[in-house]
Amino acid sequence: MLATAGSAIGLGNIWKLPYMIGVNGGSAFVMVFVICIFLVGIPLMMTEILLGRRAQKNPLDGMQALAIEANKSSIWKYLGGMGMLTGLLILGFYSVIGGWVLNYIFEAGNGSFTGISAAQSTANFDALLSSPLKLLFWHTVFMFMTMSVVAHGVNSGLEKANNILIPSLFAILLVLLGYSMSVGNMSAAYQFMFKPDFSKITPVVVLSALGHAFFSLSLGMGAVMVYGSYLQRHVSIARTTIYIALADTLLGLLVGLAIYSLVFANHLAPNAGPGLIFQTLPIAFGHMPGGSIIGILFFMLIAFAAWTSSISLVEPAIAWIVENTKVKRHIAAWTLGFAVWLLGVTVALSFNEWRGVKIIFGLNIFETLDKLTSTILLPLGGLLMAIFAGYFMQKQHVQEELDLQDKAFKLWRFTNNVIAPIAITAVFLYLFGIIK
Ligand code: TRP
Repeated sequence: MLATAGSAIGLGNIWKLPYMIGVNGGSAFVMVFVICIFLVGIPLMMTEILLGRRAQKNPLDGMQALAIEANKSSIWKYLGGMGMLTGLLILGFYSVIGGWVLNYIFEAGNGSFTGISAAQSTANFDALLSSPLKLLFWHTVFMFMTMSVVAHGVNSGLEKANNILIPSLFAILLVLLGYSMSVGNMSAAYQFMFKPDFSKITPVVVLSALGHAFFSLSLGMGAVMVYGSYLQRHVSIARTTIYIALADTLLGLLVGLAIYSLVFANHLAPNAGPGLIFQTLPIAFGHMPGGSIIGILFFMLIAFAAWTSSISLVEPAIAWIVENTKVKRHIAAWTLGFAVWLLGVTVALSFNEWRGVKIIFGLNIFETLDKLTSTILLPLGGLLMAIFAGYFMQKQHVQEELDLQDKAFKLWRFTNNVIAPIAITAVFLYLFGIIK
């Protein structure tokens, strides 16, 4: 359970959600995102955990075993395979952003935030982005951190640390929130994020919010499935899911409030994009009493959260290699790590030297990987898992894992079998231009 929480809570909450809110019109995004968490995220997280706990294997062999158990075609194993690949694609850019966070621990430490203005802070961040060497250096460090854990086998020590680190993250966030409330423009932030504005709900907003619900909860690629396979028999899947989903969502929204309160007070642009938290947080840490220490701690905690998430992005693929070939775990980890590192190099360069390189629809390398995974591959993975659990597995096997009372089971079944598939399919149909 701790591992799943560690996987869910990461850059998705602290870095991505805040800027996605700004890019997608504020409250419109928040509303759709929260609805997606409840109607799609929570039921599908239960589904993914139940698949994992029943299969007790890596996603590819696990899907195959479940298909065999249900007397269905082994073709389902490719769903597991697709998930493993998706995880590697995500890690390609996740590690680069993890690198930004590592860099900011040091920036906080060497006093470069002290008394900083909004303009200086933005310039600081731009300077980081335009330095390929810095980005590559920190991306390398982050990949190294991730792969050294994976090479040894995901150990319980790191996951147990979540016990302390997740509450610490909440605690330090409250400090930040208190500060933002006293000097920032909290009412503007509140209005921006929560005052309903249905006119801003566009298909793109819905698509992004749905994709981010998957990203934030680590759904759709088998990470949760792998951790579900470690979940003990007696633990309730529904309760575990609800705790994690609520904590994950609350954390993200609180970070959003803290950030936007600073954004509006400093007349920054809410739609600044991926640099948003790196441009605003230093302003807070540079002016609050004890800001350097709090800044160091805050970025360290984010780095830690990112670290436990990144591990879950490669673990499925590594588990598959180790369980199916003679390759030793550490060799598998360093080889695959090198491949993902290379992908990350192209991502790092897409922020400077290769900024002009467009892959598809005018998106650069970073944006392509991000959109491809969040808005297509993860929801597709989730859709297929829902269909598998809902229509291919025996109902009784599903119920054995979920162990829910009748009403709760019916509710899960309705959301898993009907609501989530319809929602995801509708979004896809729009994406492919079939419904306009
Ligand atoms: N959920 C993590 C975050 O919010 C990222 C992550 C880890 C993830 N494992 C995943 C996203 C699997 C999608 C699928 O930072």
